[in-house]
Amino acid sequence: MTDTQPSTEPSGSTASLENLLHETRSFPPSPEFAAQANAQPGSYEEARANRPEFWAKQARELVTWKTPFTETLDWSGAPVARWFADGTLNAAYNAVDRHVENGLGDRVALHFEGEPGDTRSITYAELQREVARAANALAALGVTVGDRVVIYLPLLVESVVAMLACARLGAPHSVVFGGFSADALRSRIADAEATLVITADGGYRRGAPSALKPAVDEAIAPREGDSETTVRHVLVVRRTEQEVAWTEGRDVWWHEALEAADTFHEPAWVEAEHPLFILYTSGTTGKPKGILHTTGGYLTQVAYTHKNVFDLKPETDVYWCTADIGWVTGHSYVVYGPLLNGATQVLYEGTPDTPHRGRWWELIEKYKVSILYTAPTAIRTCMKWGEDIPGQFDLSSLRVLGSVGEPINPEAWMWYRRVIGADRTPIVDTWWQTETGGIMISPLPGVTAAKPGSAQVPLPGIAADVVDDEANPVPDGGGGYLVLTEPWPAMLRGIWGDLERYKETYWSRFEGLYFAGDGAKKDEDGDIWLLGRVDDVMNVSGHRLSTTEIESALVSHDIVAEAAVVGANDETTGQAVVAFVILRGEHANRASDAEGAAQVQEELRSHVAKEIGPIAKPRKILVVAELPKTRSGKIMRRLLRDVAENRAVGDATTLADSSVMDLISAGLNAPSAANED
Ligand code: WTA
Repeated sequence: MTDTQPSTEPSGSTASLENLLHETRSFPPSPEFAAQANAQPGSYEEARANRPEFWAKQARELVTWKTPFTETLDWSGAPVARWFADGTLNAAYNAVDRHVENGLGDRVALHFEGEPGDTRSITYAELQREVARAANALAALGVTVGDRVVIYLPLLVESVVAMLACARLGAPHSVVFGGFSADALRSRIADAEATLVITADGGYRRGAPSALKPAVDEAIAPREGDSETTVRHVLVVRRTEQEVAWTEGRDVWWHEALEAADTFHEPAWVEAEHPLFILYTSGTTGKPKGILHTTGGYLTQVAYTHKNVFDLKPETDVYWCTADIGWVTGHSYVVYGPLLNGATQVLYEGTPDTPHRGRWWELIEKYKVSILYTAPTAIRTCMKWGEDIPGQFDLSSLRVLGSVGEPINPEAWMWYRRVIGADRTPIVDTWWQTETGGIMISPLPGVTAAKPGSAQVPLPGIAADVVDDEANPVPDGGGGYLVLTEPWPAMLRGIWGDLERYKETYWSRFEGLYFAGDGAKKDEDGDIWLLGRVDDVMNVSGHRLSTTEIESALVSHDIVAEAAVVGANDETTGQAVVAFVILRGEHANRASDAEGAAQVQEELRSHVAKEIGPIAKPRKILVVAELPKTRSGKIMRRLLRDVAENRAVGDATTLADSSVMDLISAGLNAPSAANED
């Protein structure tokens, strides 16, 4: 259905390429910061001299092993790497117990702040008891090493405890973001063949309780044509005290199960390559991919990057990453990285504007947050709300700012530094993916002179390049595709249940190179600028969505004959989902007047929300009579994107029917068809 040839057109960035390549602003580290920094300039050279040995050193320093490893990297089964394979360890022990054993039990691990204003601070010693209890409770429900557990929860202390309890048992977790629908949850549970789901009655969102458990009930209910669910129990956290439907024998209250459980639990010592988690992410085809991460290499890289990229000083810093645990950023930089490093962090359940638009800054003032890690879309939203809002709060505790999830445009970068960072704090723009497990490209605070808008340099121990269509590295000043040229410890070990798809997706575009799916440029200094996806993946508010997945959702509706989805540039969210649909014959005239078109649009938007989740709802749905196709039948999304972004339509000479674009443009300008949220 789509153009299969990726193009190097930037899809998520609004800045012009010419400007990007001539960025002259540079922010070298202050001598004071450099003097105290964790990161050392010599690490690049050290890692280049012997990359595996560099990582082995980090693995020994930052991770505690039950059985020390003697092998570092085995790449003989490429593209599936094995790191530290003969070592054994436990992720939860590393995240919690060892800190307690080292006398740090009284340190606060999590300052939880619920959206309604309830708070709870939990120390490492308390966290240890909770995790041990939860592990015993899960074991009592029959969970054992290797079993998959799906976690579908709001951002609560219990969510962190649940993930660690799974890790303690050696039972890979698969967290599904609470904003995904029952159908999306259903397919993920089925793909992972999970035996337990951990959920809550509900969570708080924008000042009101919103239910979660009904989606789980629906996701595991018998359905004609589907095989019986693998789920044996549903463990339910009580959060909102909403009424919930209860299936005796299957459903169990979290608090009751934990109360009954012992606080001693011997962790399962697993091999370094034992699966730690599966996290589903959107790919270029309709079906989400279960990205598989294992234990030893993953923990090594997230601990190393968290310590060095954020300059973490666990005794004095208060760290806050605003991501939800439903995304990889929540896995690596809320749960595993910070806890492995013994950090004290803030965990906030809600949205930035509830009950007021200063909520985040209020939290920073309250907890004296010193390191903040968030997404460009949030920064741009705050820019829109005005700098007088953060101006009302004391943000002087901040000393490092991070950005992740999408390209950060230089204007947003400058605003972040000036308004939030008082023109003083280093900013780290961190490029990575669900697949890479940990940060890959980023400046190092105290070492790198930062450039607004560029992620700049691969971290020590990471090898990346920008190549052209023939896999040749482009010279400085050139553009192409971002690739990773050497294996790294936290790399994915495959797609759950589908090794071939792993090879095909990441390793077939360029022989022997990992293809990230991002377009990139090297500037005159050799610094890397990320330009957005070159495949059919969109990035909306830092969340990955697949055009094909949304197209499949649309055509699964009775009235839709054909659909094409594009990501249009959007000032705040990076990209916005715009859909073009052709209605089936008998429904074709339903959209012929304004009211009908609005109705169709609403119906289809709700349908996408039901199939995937509210985050995937198209901003605009345009009912069209034709889609622009080449003579071989491929949809020309480039032209649709021109229309969606209100640009003059580009070269349409390869279209089978060149009048199609005029028809579509005319339809777009009809006021009824362009309803926005
Ligand atoms: C994009 C999120 C530019 C990129 C950690 C990547 C970025 C995708 C950056 C992965 C950045 C992430 N600059 N683009 N600093 N960070 N991206 O799997 O397109 O949700 O391929 O992982 O986000 O998204 P994912």
